Amino acid sequence: MNDSILVTGGAGFIGSNFVLQWLAHESAPLINLDSLTYAGNLANLASISEGPRYRFVHGDINDRALVAGLFRRHQPAAMVHFAAESHVDRSILGPEEFIRTNVHGTFSLLEEAKAYWKALPECDQQRFRFLHVSTDEVYGSLGEHDPAFSETTAYAPNSPYAASKAASDHLVRAWHHTYELPTLTTNCSNNYGPFQFPEKLIPLMIHNALAGKTLPVYGDGQNVRDWMYVEDHCSAIRCVLSNGRPGETYNIGGRSERRNLEVVRSICAVLDELRPAAHSYADLITFVPDRPGHDRRYAIDSSRVERELGWHPQVSFEDGIRRTVAWYLDHQDWVAAITSGSYRDWIATQYANRGGAA
Ligand code: NAD
Ligand code: TYD
Repeated sequence: MNDSILVTGGAGFIGSNFVLQWLAHESAPLINLDSLTYAGNLANLASISEGPRYRFVHGDINDRALVAGLFRRHQPAAMVHFAAESHVDRSILGPEEFIRTNVHGTFSLLEEAKAYWKALPECDQQRFRFLHVSTDEVYGSLGEHDPAFSETTAYAPNSPYAASKAASDHLVRAWHHTYELPTLTTNCSNNYGPFQFPEKLIPLMIHNALAGKTLPVYGDGQNVRDWMYVEDHCSAIRCVLSNGRPGETYNIGGRSERRNLEVVRSICAVLDELRPAAHSYADLITFVPDRPGHDRRYAIDSSRVERELGWHPQVSFEDGIRRTVAWYLDHQDWVAAITSGSYRDWIATQYANRGGAA
């Protein structure tokens, strides 16, 4: 075994931010396995793609022969598993791919990681880690005054996406409990920042506002999410990978609960300042029919990772939103390249019954 890490889904939003951060801060090589779905984009990694410590492998996490070959060839010290179908609205319209990648794909990786790990010498077995990146959505929905989700909160997933991630978390737990595979699980709140595909709330709103399109707020806009700047999530994963206790789960949150309407208004205020138009962008806000089964509130208690591992988020919501809006303004070519054919089809389908919002 050497120091390298095998990452899955490293061409997606969080994965590519993680790959860039890893190569900037760590010395160990990184192998990125990604099947390049609509959400995967190698342009995110153009700045490091030729580097000697980075290797991209185009393939599916369900391809067990491929995964086994990667373990054999690269002898990694850890696997960091981001690959997933990640958008709740897509899971409502077409859940099957979520089961295939999130549940079965995680199972495939666990099986191949176990086979590799079992054959390692004992000292390497002790060092190896399988880090599974998951979400706070597995815990379900909170009432206005409920305490935030902790690592002991009962799972109560409500969307097909959340259910598929919950299933994958349970598999990871069982592979540790039964086979003693040294797993770590992180359950993080909503991320935002550079390279996020403009189907999720924040980049969709920036994209629509700049195009002069309406800003579709589901329901009454009072749903609450805890927002985390993506670089903070990536630093938390690196911290858990090096210091976390095998078999444990760690909740990662930004201590930044905001109502959706507040989030959209914050984006509009930054855009009004950085790219003034004749009218405030907030005039484009439109309330549209709610998402089915829409979780009301998520909030994360990240005191375990803060207390036990000394990790703390560094970027406030106000700072993060400003950086994010500025990034999208500076990277309109990146947005233009990914919002072609299939993106337009998705927007047309998703918002068709929501007053033509997009
Ligand atoms: P994303 O949708 O932007 O990227 C997913 C990546 O996985 C893409 O590069 C895609 O090509 C790849 N992929 C999908 N199916 C694959 C397969 N079968 N084989 C190989 N690669 C495949 O997702 P994201 O927002 O970067 O999320 C990454 C992880 O973090 C996911 O596991 C997600 O559940 C979790 N998470 C996301 C958030 C968030 O706010 N985005 C919050 C908490 C946790
Ligand atoms: P999203 O970014 O899809 O993340 P998640 O559903 O995983 O939390 O949505 C964040 C919140 O924004 C969620 O409450 C749904 C809401 N939302 C809208 O109001 N309008 C939109 O067009 C989208 C995509 C999301």
